[in-house]
Amino acid sequence: MDIKQILIFGLCLVPVWTCRMNRCYNVSELHQAAERKLRSHYPQHHEFPTAALSNSLASCPVSLFPQQPPQHVRDRSLSPWRYVRVTKEDHFPSSYSEAQCLCSGCVLIQNNKHPVESHDYNSHPVTQSRVFLKRELCDDGRRYYLKPVTVKVAVGCTCTRAKSYN
Ligand SMILES: *[C@@H]1O[C@H](CO)[C@@H](O)[C@H](O)[C@H]1NC(C)=O
Repeated sequence: MDIKQILIFGLCLVPVWTCRMNRCYNVSELHQAAERKLRSHYPQHHEFPTAALSNSLASCPVSLFPQQPPQHVRDRSLSPWRYVRVTKEDHFPSSYSEAQCLCSGCVLIQNNKHPVESHDYNSHPVTQSRVFLKRELCDDGRRYYLKPVTVKVAVGCTCTRAKSYN
C-alpha cells in the first residue's frame, strides 16, 4: 500500500469509528449496553457501605469519641468521614458512595484529654477521577448514546494545615 491508499483507507475508517462510538440505544437497550461497556472498558470500584441515616447527622464526632479507638480508618482518622450515596439518573453506574468529611477542622487529642475540634487544621476531601457513562440524546431525539465522562469522587478525607489562621 502506498501512502495514498493508506490515507484513503484511514479516512474510510473514521466515519465507521465515530458511528460505533455514538451508537444510539433505545431506553430498553440502554441499561444493558451501559453495563456491558462498563464491564469491558472501565474497571469498577469497590462500593463502601453507606450509613442508613446518611442525610442530616453530619457533625464532627468529638463528643462521641469512644475510649477505644474504633475499627474503621474513617472513624479513627483525625479528619473523620462517612460515606453517602450519590444518585445520578443519567449516569452509569447511576449511584455510588462518596466520602463526606464530618469536621471542618480536625480532631485533636492531647495528653489523653477529651478530643476537641481544632481549626488550626482543615479536613479536606481526597478525590479520585472516575469514568462514568453519561446518557446523551441522539439526533433523532428519542434514543441515547453513551458518552464517557470523568467525575471527581471523594474517597476519604485528610487533615491539612489551615489555609489561614483566624
Ligand atoms: C429497542 O430496540 C430493540 C432492538 O433494536 C427492539 O427489539 C426493541 O423492541 C426496542 N424497544 C423499544 C421500547 O423501542
